[in-house]
Amino acid sequence: MKEYKPFKSGKVREIYDLDDSLVLVATDRISAFDHILENDITDKGAILTQMSKFWFDFTSDILPNHVLSTDTADLPEFFQKPEFQGRTTKCRKLRMIPMECIVRGYITGSGWESYQENGTVCGIKLPAGLQESQQLPEPIFTPSTKAELGDHDENVTLEQGAACVEKVFPGHGQEYVEKIRDYTIAIYKKCAEYAKSKGIIIADTKFEFGVDEEGNIVIGDEMLTPDSSRFWPLEGYEAGHGQPSYDKQFVRDWLKANPDKGYKLPQDIIDKTIAKYKEAYEVLTGKKF
Ligand SMILES: Nc1ncnc2c1ncn2[C@@H]1O[C@H](COP(=O)(O)OP(=O)(O)O)[C@@H](O)[C@H]1O
Ligand SMILES: [Mg+2]
Repeated sequence: MKEYKPFKSGKVREIYDLDDSLVLVATDRISAFDHILENDITDKGAILTQMSKFWFDFTSDILPNHVLSTDTADLPEFFQKPEFQGRTTKCRKLRMIPMECIVRGYITGSGWESYQENGTVCGIKLPAGLQESQQLPEPIFTPSTKAELGDHDENVTLEQGAACVEKVFPGHGQEYVEKIRDYTIAIYKKCAEYAKSKGIIIADTKFEFGVDEEGNIVIGDEMLTPDSSRFWPLEGYEAGHGQPSYDKQFVRDWLKANPDKGYKLPQDIIDKTIAKYKEAYEVLTGKKF
């Protein structure tokens, strides 16, 4: 049997190269406050893989996506092990567009910080008098450039983004950036409206796009998971302060209350967090995990 080694181990995902395709494996690792915790959140990787799959299908009328299969039976024998089942995506290999396509429907996080400083986010002027976590009149596209490991991603204007993309795709910088901006907003609107009807606010999220051999723009990476988005419970939502995170609230609260115990969680916090991931999946997809 041919053995495979991931060519990249991210914070929470491992990536394998099959020459003509890629294999993304989502682990059960969880990060909070920029740290990987010592505990695994059982089934988290599988839940997020299935959630991404749901959104890729849900938006396939808007644009093509990179998913080839989430069934390990479609992969080499090496991947036919229980540890890969449910958490593995075989995907089309794309030339990635070097931009984090962030869309914000609500003002929070680094967007809120920037707005407080100068009333803008990524060069976009916002109305005066917004409160923290308030919904924006229209969702805004606030791209950032992908930083090298360890560095923080940097917010950029559309023009700066186009200049970055131009370096990798000569002659296409402006064109691609405008296209992925329009896709980003269209996908967000459709999915956020749907999630809200199920009781979850998608405050903001991040997409990554690539280009296939024919020059088509295709959405890649993961899609609308709690790892790439801010999910808030609709119930109890109120502008004027920060909102509880749908999935990591128990983790963050416990870490804050127990600063001396390192990044190791007690079992009841893990169990509650697993339950939140399952709940988000079931509420959003209408399927039992
Ligand atoms: N279909 C694809 N083709 C090529 N690269 C992809 C595809 N989908 C995602 N990627 C890339 O795979 C990597 C996923 O790694 P990840 O674990 O998220 O780490 P990081 O975001 O820190 O780079 C990212 O660099 C992403 O741009
Ligand atoms: Mg990533």
